[in-house]
Amino acid sequence: MEQTLVIIKPSGLERALTGQIISRFQSKGLIISGLKMMQLDEKILREHYAHLVDKPFFPSLLASMMASPVIVMALKGVDAVAVVRAMTGATNGRKAAPGTIRGDFSMSGQENIIHASDSPENAQIELNRFFRAGEIFDYKPANIGFVYSPDERNQ
Ligand code: TYD
Repeated sequence: MEQTLVIIKPSGLERALTGQIISRFQSKGLIISGLKMMQLDEKILREHYAHLVDKPFFPSLLASMMASPVIVMALKGVDAVAVVRAMTGATNGRKAAPGTIRGDFSMSGQENIIHASDSPENAQIELNRFFRAGEIFDYKPANIGFVYSPDERNQ
């Protein structure tokens, strides 16, 4: 099964949305394989947002991501990257579809509640960036047979 990275940003933590966000992913059937709180610094954010360092909004993005600790989560499931991106919604919360996390909880292009990896390749890089060896767990939830068919379970 695929794994992906979600970050509950300071906008999610400070607005007390952590429980609702985790609950959505669990209710969907995604498996939490890693979960911790950490304070991000400029070094890790320059790596994570390397594609944005030259944008005029980058200093503001840095400040926004360091405004409080964040929660990082590894989520596992069949097609987990695409499923979690669909649940996340468009970057700008004002444009994100209702029913998505950003569409339901955000009014902003920057204070947009969560980050989610955008491809399986980036998910692997990002999981390695935010988790150390031993912090991601491989276990089979007892209800797995009620989440997937036998064929799907082995994907
Ligand atoms: P990006 O990787 O383009 O989007 P996504 O988070 O949907 O994968 O942008 C990363 C973050 O940068 C985005 O979540 C919020 C911030 N950002 C801004 O603050 N202003 C902007 O105009 C854009 C495009 C992004």
